[in-house]
Amino acid sequence: MPEVPPNVAIRRIGVDELSIVQQLAEEVWPHAFEGVIQRHQIEIMLGDIYALESLENEMTALGHVFWVARHEGLESGFVSAFKRDDTTWIKKLYILPRKQGIGIGRALIETAVTHFAPSKAISLNVNNGNARAIEFYKKYGFAIAEEVPVKMGPFDFTDYVMTKAL
Ligand SMILES: CC(C)(COP(=O)(O)OP(=O)(O)OC[C@H]1O[C@@H](n2cnc3c(N)ncnc32)[C@H](O)[C@@H]1OP(=O)(O)O)[C@@H](O)C(=O)NCCC(=O)NCCS
Repeated sequence: MPEVPPNVAIRRIGVDELSIVQQLAEEVWPHAFEGVIQRHQIEIMLGDIYALESLENEMTALGHVFWVARHEGLESGFVSAFKRDDTTWIKKLYILPRKQGIGIGRALIETAVTHFAPSKAISLNVNNGNARAIEFYKKYGFAIAEEVPVKMGPFDFTDYVMTKAL
């Protein structure tokens, strides 16, 4: 079972709670991507990727599973993940700035890993300019496997694919 920090509760959500994910992303993204992605691009991407119908499509048509973490009564972060072949993929992972560094990110990853076990590896894409997230993943045991071009909403970026063997 994943180790969850004190006063943190993690629960899987359904379509009816996807607005929590949308609200958290709107708060986290401007902080997470400051200096990495331009502000007007962030707004366009949030409106596209985090539209409720986009999130609902990921959950119902693509089989992505979503979990939300609550800390001391506040919805504080979320993860979404899916499994392809023998790999668990983390698709989205965002923690409120004031709730970062207390173990929620790690606990959310472990929740996804436990759900999809057994897997041979866990992988994710991260923007190649998102140094803080890259450091976090390295500390957690991920290594950069490749650099890939990606389309996010209408924009082109470069991601690292990071992988950890399980
Ligand atoms: C990156 C992110 C998901 C990490 O989640 P978090 O809840 O802050 O991280 P945790 O508290 O679980 O940290 C787990 C470990 O990583 C370490 N860590 C956290 N952030 C780190 C960083 N920026 N650099 C190095 N280590 C870091 C912690 O010290 C902790 O180590 P420990 O278990 O030995 O104490 C979170 O900070 C976040 O949402 N960032 C902004 C959004 C983002 O960039 N998301 C990723 C998109 S791909």
